[in-house]
This record gives sequence, C-alpha cells and structure tokens, in this order.
Amino acid sequence: MTTPIRKAVFPVAGLGTRFLPATKVMPKEMLTVVDKPVIQHVVDEARLAGIEEFIFVTGPNKGVIEDHFKQQIHLEQVLKDSGKENELKALQASQLAPECVKFTLQETPLGLGHAVWCARELVGDEPFALLLPDVLVQSTGKTCLAQLIEVYGDTGGNVIAVEEVAAENTHQYGIVDIERSKTDNHLIRGMVEKPSQGTAPSNLIIMGRYLLQPEIFKILDAKERGAGGEIQITDAMIRLLESQPFTAVEYEGRSFDCGSKVGYQLANTSFALARNNLRDELREELRKLL
Ligand code: UTP
Repeated sequence: MTTPIRKAVFPVAGLGTRFLPATKVMPKEMLTVVDKPVIQHVVDEARLAGIEEFIFVTGPNKGVIEDHFKQQIHLEQVLKDSGKENELKALQASQLAPECVKFTLQETPLGLGHAVWCARELVGDEPFALLLPDVLVQSTGKTCLAQLIEVYGDTGGNVIAVEEVAAENTHQYGIVDIERSKTDNHLIRGMVEKPSQGTAPSNLIIMGRYLLQPEIFKILDAKERGAGGEIQITDAMIRLLESQPFTAVEYEGRSFDCGSKVGYQLANTSFALARNNLRDELREELRKLL
C-alpha cells in the first residue's frame, strides 16, 4: 500500500520577469486564461486529482493570490440579489475551504528547489504533489496529476510527468534518462538540468508535475546552487535518485508554458476553443485574422 497523496505545493514566488510590465504588481499566476487565473486552472487540476490540502509558496506582493481563493461575501450577495446564478456558481467554484489552504513565504526567489524547501513544515513527513503553476495541461481524460497518482498507486516512490520536445530545445529544460518500457511509464536512470546543446540523454523534459517523497527536503536543506546560480529541484531529485526509485510518465494531454508569451497566448486560444460557447465564434475570427 502506498501512502496517499493528500497535499499539493504550488510555488508562486517567482518574479515573472518575462511578463513585465504586466507582472509589475500582478503576479504572473493571476494572469487570465479565458476567464480564470492561471493558478485557478492548476488548483482545479489538483482538486480533480483528489488533493485535500493546497500549500502556496508565495513571495512579497502576492497577497492577491490569497484573496482570490477566499470567499467574497459582498460580491456573492450582489450576484444573489441580481439573480446572476451562473456568475455566482463560477465565483463559488473558485473558492477553497479556508482549512484546506496554507501559505508560506519565500522571501527571496532563490530557485524552485528553495521554494519547495520553504513548504517543508507544512508538508511534513508524507509524499506530496508539486505543480508548477505556470504550466497548464489540457487532457481529454484524467488530469495530468490524476494520471501520475494512478501510476504512483502501482509504483510508489517518486513519479514525474515528462513529454517530448524537439532535440534542439532540450537545453532549456530538465531532462530525464530512462529505461524505455513498452508502456508510457519508464524507470528513470538519471536526470540533468539544462544540459548544454547536443548532450541531452533524451528529448523527454520534466514539464512541471511531480509526486515527491518527503526525503527531498533533507537534500534541499543543503541549499546547493545549480544551473543559473539557483537552487534547483532537479539537482535535489538527482540526489534522491541515489536511494529511491523515480518513474517518468508520458502523460496523455498537451502542456502550455504560460511563463512564455507564445505559450500563454496558445493556452488562451486552446482553452477557449475547448469551450462550447466560445468555439465557433473564435474559430471564425481566428480564420479571418490569420
Ligand atoms: P519560473 O522560473 O518559470 O518563474 O519558475 P519566474 O522566475 O517567475 O519567471 P521569469 O523567468 O522571471 O519570467 C517556475 C515556477 O516556480 C516559481 C515561479 O513563481 C513559477 O510559478 N518559483 C520560481 C518560485 O516560487 N520561487 C523561485 O525562487 C523560482
């Protein structure tokens, strides 16, 4: 029996410099994809995977994220009074029960590994999910995180979602070296963060969804700097791989890197095209535009 995955960590303390000036006061995780902030899409993915506790690692000026998940009593009342039932439902669906939400502060953005380390006390001694909020995944069936949890039920250990990219782009990502199986799940032999061009062991990238064992925190305690002078989660996972198994899952779905301008625009278009009430009009307009 594997220990259930009950908690998820959302690191939202980055500076979002690629989106300045939009992110001067507005956290990039609050930028909108169709009609929900990016972070809401990711929280919904976790909810659908059965996550019960939501841990946000925030930075200074990220209070608006905290506000977003709270009940807005006055606004609810206004919608009730004016009979706006659908709007009220959408508002209420965005809320998280206060006892399920935890916040912790990463005062300085020293890297993703450091952001995860900041959640160590809230996670405690149990395996947890890690979702990078600037990556959105569109799946036709189960959410990406739900797919990982299903695999974890069989394998235990650590499980990470991977996907293929063109060989010339591997230097931008964390890359896995795998023992390729006949299924979509492969045992990981090694990992490398941002390998120099032409040296990547595969073209499978670590795309932003992880299930990790709590021993990762002991490794992150060392606060070792890696690529770009940042404390990297991939470096800590490489150390953990010495004592624990890691499974790579080629999940069903398509990811969008909302931290990049093109990825963000594509996410908006693709998520809008998936909506019955927007698809036809948008398709027509896009055809004209292109
Ligand atoms: P990114 O490196 O994509 O985010 O981190 P960033 O640094 O905000 O982006 P740019 O390059 O300046 O535009 C991936 C996720 O990890 C979080 C970010 O908020 C983002 O959601 N993160 C990153 C932290 O919480 N703390 C960090 O120290 C670094």
